[in-house]
Amino acid sequence: MTEFLEHKPVLYREVVEFMNFADRKVRIIDGTLGNGGHTKLLLEANSGAEVLGIDRDTQALERAAINLKEFSDRVHFFHGTFSNMREFATELGWDEVDGILLDIGVSSPQLDDAKRGFSWRMDGPLDMRMDRKSPLTASRILNNYSKEELIDIFRKYGEIPQAAKLADFIIRRREIKPLQTTADFVAVCDEALGGKGRAKSLPAPTLPFQAIRIAVNDELGELERALQQSFGLLAKGGILEVISFHSLEDRIAKHFMKELSCGCICPPSFPVCVCNHKPELEILTKGVITAQKDELEENKRSSCAKLRIARKL
Ligand SMILES: C[S@@+](CC[C@H](N)C(=O)[O-])C[C@H]1O[C@@H](n2cnc3c(N)ncnc32)[C@H](O)[C@@H]1O
Repeated sequence: MTEFLEHKPVLYREVVEFMNFADRKVRIIDGTLGNGGHTKLLLEANSGAEVLGIDRDTQALERAAINLKEFSDRVHFFHGTFSNMREFATELGWDEVDGILLDIGVSSPQLDDAKRGFSWRMDGPLDMRMDRKSPLTASRILNNYSKEELIDIFRKYGEIPQAAKLADFIIRRREIKPLQTTADFVAVCDEALGGKGRAKSLPAPTLPFQAIRIAVNDELGELERALQQSFGLLAKGGILEVISFHSLEDRIAKHFMKELSCGCICPPSFPVCVCNHKPELEILTKGVITAQKDELEENKRSSCAKLRIARKL
């Protein structure tokens, strides 16, 4: 039985405010069901809503099923990745939806469970898989990938200036003995990065852990594929909400929305428009929405959350 670890949904007021369909019969996809916190609020606010909830973590789905018991006739649970949302929607016979929510990243229960290996603050196995059936673990990457592959991961997913130095230290360490636990990886990060990460305020393991986690779960690739699909699935007037927790994810969501909300895309040197391109999305958030003071006080994890919202035209 899954232990009931709490997860407070972030930016909960804003998520519901922009997906307020009153009592209309609507279909919503929650691509990151987690404990079902956002879905519960959406079902409470929208009496005519049905939700297709996806998570790649079976423990999250078990918790969500408990949390959403009273709404069981209005929720459909799917185990898998949100980049397969079209396939799941087709299974339900849904060809269009009115709202899509992606609250990406890891949940508090995943971070707080040492056995999952997501947190550098607790000792555990080098796992970091959201889906525990997938073959790629943090251990496999750290102990088998080439130096170039490691450098690439640390640069792309952690933006770590000393990526090459860190990769060197990992290779040297694993030649003596494979890295087995998060504590082993923390020790190498501290040694290689001299007790400091990219920013002075960040402990050394923060960005290396983020980078390996993103690689293990192909998080950025997942987001790019999911955004493409969501646009195709949204009905006219449908709402897309994306909550991200670091700049790499936020950049992807921002560019995606910006590109589709553009009118003319002719090169600036063209004297007149020849593309006839029309905006397909309307961005509803000026910049990003971040947590208000009271939410920041009651939920520390909301401090990094950024919400972007768009409507399909
Ligand atoms: C931040 S939590 C979501 C919490 C949820 N909104 C709530 O209120 O309880 C993110 C969840 O999304 C899941 N997840 C992350 N990436 C995923 C993906 N590509 N496909 C499916 N689920 C994913 C994680 O396993 C995790 O349970």
